[in-house]
Amino acid sequence: MQNASDALSGSRKNALYIGSDGVTYSQMARALTLLYDLSREEIRAAYRPSTAPDLVFIQATGPDAFNAVELIPGIRDSVGSAPVFVIIDSRDADILLAASKQGIQGFVEIPDDIPNLLSIVNKEQQRSSGAFAGVLGTFFSLKGGVGTTTLAVNVAEQLALYTGGSAILVDVNMPLGDSSLYIEHDERENYSLNDFILNINRMNPDLMESAIARHKSGLRYLGLPNNLADLECVTDVNIKMVLTVLRRYYNYVIVDCASDFSPVTLACLDDSSFIMLVAEPSLSSIRAVRIAYDTCRQLGYSPERLKFILNRRTDQGDEIINELLGALQIPVTAEVENNYMTFLEALQKGCLLNEFAPQSLASRQIRDIASLLLPEGSEQIMEQDISSGKSGWFGGLFGSRSGVRQGEALK
Ligand SMILES: Nc1ncnc2c1ncn2[C@@H]1O[C@H](COP(=O)(O)OP(=O)(O)O)[C@@H](O)[C@H]1O
Ligand SMILES: [Mg+2]
Repeated sequence: MQNASDALSGSRKNALYIGSDGVTYSQMARALTLLYDLSREEIRAAYRPSTAPDLVFIQATGPDAFNAVELIPGIRDSVGSAPVFVIIDSRDADILLAASKQGIQGFVEIPDDIPNLLSIVNKEQQRSSGAFAGVLGTFFSLKGGVGTTTLAVNVAEQLALYTGGSAILVDVNMPLGDSSLYIEHDERENYSLNDFILNINRMNPDLMESAIARHKSGLRYLGLPNNLADLECVTDVNIKMVLTVLRRYYNYVIVDCASDFSPVTLACLDDSSFIMLVAEPSLSSIRAVRIAYDTCRQLGYSPERLKFILNRRTDQGDEIINELLGALQIPVTAEVENNYMTFLEALQKGCLLNEFAPQSLASRQIRDIASLLLPEGSEQIMEQDISSGKSGWFGGLFGSRSGVRQGEALK
């Protein structure tokens, strides 16, 4: 009878181990044997492989770990598009950060990961192709006071309800961020963005579960530190890494952004599948959305990613504003009614809109915005399930991904 190795012989690929540790190399060669032939090279900056490898491992262990990380860009240039994994033997935050900056595919921690090497490689590749990555949606406006935070928070809550708690709101609206005014969460000492960055190397499902704030809807929340001095580590590189890690754990990562095109904002926008450009019907806000839209297009973001959300819509509509909206030639994806009292009373009661006034038009419109982020076709299931009183139905669409995935540590 054919064994698995023979059956897969036609699809074997070449993997390359770059490093000096012969023992780890042989263990990994054995672990990969079903799908890959692993060869080994000593580490050097401009390595030119004779045949392009399909997968590359760079050993960054022991005292030379940093030197190895520094050589990653040179090695990446020479191995074409092959995914690069970095082998580590400790979760040193500096090494993890430095390697993450190089756009690597993932980490392999020795010795623990070796028995599961194939599944780690496979999972990371699926994740980068979108199969395991949560959806990133950013709420953005170049002008403040138009309802960006209000919509981000309420849409995120809705997504948490749809997914049985697999949504997180991240506030990067520096320096103060005011999403915490809207989200009353549990009393525990929770991580701020700053704490999350500092502890990213020891992040695992249990820590995520216990350290990240939780609103009663199930929505998770990561806010800015209270101490302004701690903002120093909220940089574009760190935010990119935070968002990547969060997307491994949550189906939805919703970001409330600052009203600028700072490197941190760009780090969020770059990876967002949905960029919600929020505006209100006022001259200055319409002008701001024009500039934001054009800048996003110049940055190469496709129009499909850009959603124009018109908040505080009134029926009467000023003629000039309506004319301007027409001239803007940016299709309005969704509208939210102007309902100051409802939003204000909800805020005073410490509730989000879905709890305070679920039947209000604004609440239904917020649900519509949340539905834009759902996978196609799931709205129907959602409506059926909501009417039959089920919750957390959405987990099924993502396999095991409902809330923090148990048993999976940060690799
Ligand atoms: N659709 C709406 N109708 C009425 N008031 C709103 C609406 N959306 C937001 N607001 C109010 O507008 C104010 C500013 O909202 P906020 O979300 O903080 O704006 P931004 O984040 O753009 O600065 C808040 O008082 C909020 O309650
Ligand atoms: Mg705001």
